[in-house]
Amino acid sequence: MKKIAVAAGDGIGPEIMDSALRVLAVLAERFKFEYELKNVLVGGAAFEHYDSHLPVESLNIIKSCDALLFGSVGGPISDSQLPKWKNCERNSILALRKAFHFNINLRPVAIWPEIAHASPLSSKTIADGVNLVIVRELLGDVYFGEHEQGESDGKRWARDTAEYNEEQIKSITRAAFKIAGDRKKEVCLVHKANVLEISRLWQEIVREVAEEFSDIELKELLVDNCAMQLVSKPGNFDVLLTSNLFGDILSDLAAALPGSLGVVPSASLNDDDFGMFEPAGGSAPEIAGQDIANPIAQILSMGLLVKHVWSLPEAFQTLLDSIKRTLASNICTQDLVQTGTTPTSTTEFTDRLCEEVAGL
Ligand code: IPM
Ligand code: MG
Repeated sequence: MKKIAVAAGDGIGPEIMDSALRVLAVLAERFKFEYELKNVLVGGAAFEHYDSHLPVESLNIIKSCDALLFGSVGGPISDSQLPKWKNCERNSILALRKAFHFNINLRPVAIWPEIAHASPLSSKTIADGVNLVIVRELLGDVYFGEHEQGESDGKRWARDTAEYNEEQIKSITRAAFKIAGDRKKEVCLVHKANVLEISRLWQEIVREVAEEFSDIELKELLVDNCAMQLVSKPGNFDVLLTSNLFGDILSDLAAALPGSLGVVPSASLNDDDFGMFEPAGGSAPEIAGQDIANPIAQILSMGLLVKHVWSLPEAFQTLLDSIKRTLASNICTQDLVQTGTTPTSTTEFTDRLCEEVAGL
């Protein structure tokens, strides 16, 4: 019996979490695993009760669990200065990363034939399919350095410091190479070594670590070139390994390729194999409560959790195949709908998917 902490959060979080938990129940029935759910408050939902976006009460519950299934946090942009929403994402997400030492972030992006029509890329560009994973270091770089603003001689200035050490780079690099072992056996290091000292250190260390993995090919690409090629030749990528800020930017770029953020899951892991699983998209307050949000990213995040916690890759595969079959029968939410077809609600999509997963 494993314990799963569930943090639905704000906006569409609760409704897509509801879908994911319904599908989880069916998956557990089919693959015979048992779990207990522990609800925790995060984000604006937590602020209402505790005056904090990540209260210690929630942290303690999460610590007592085997994994965290996270929804989304944050409020409408127009309300972003209200205490409930001010710095909500940063306070919840960065604090969780720090508290659980999540240094490994996996953001898989795929364009399946069933949703290829929604992609902003031409059918020629994605003809050979797109299936890549961004392996992003999550605890170093400018994110956790010093942030300062000041004024000298009447002129304002700002400074953010970025830093990486050898251990941080080795840990994420080994994670990327292990993942590549189960995929196309290649890792592409994305860097800016023509300018940055940090990137030069990454290059040195990644090359050293690569020698431990003789069956995996190491490629290297400058980050600006990588951004261009992700759009022009996304099918050429498999495992992309990169530092925190580059990973942040490239993963949003990559997440746009399928045409909807609503299909992109993610996982953050630490060295003890504890993981937080969350959709790549945000809380989308503008469509919350309307039963129209795409639950796929949340459902796939749940699938990644099941694969990780119970070591059940076959459950994840069944889930993915079921999602594709549901989409192939023209059951999809408004973000993925083809012209001339009627979108289904979040609930209807989930109903159909549950039937597929059950094998009905
Ligand atoms: C992400 C987000 C976060 C980040 C923000 C909310 C701090 O953009 O998970 O990619 O920059 O890492
Ligand atoms: Mg981001």
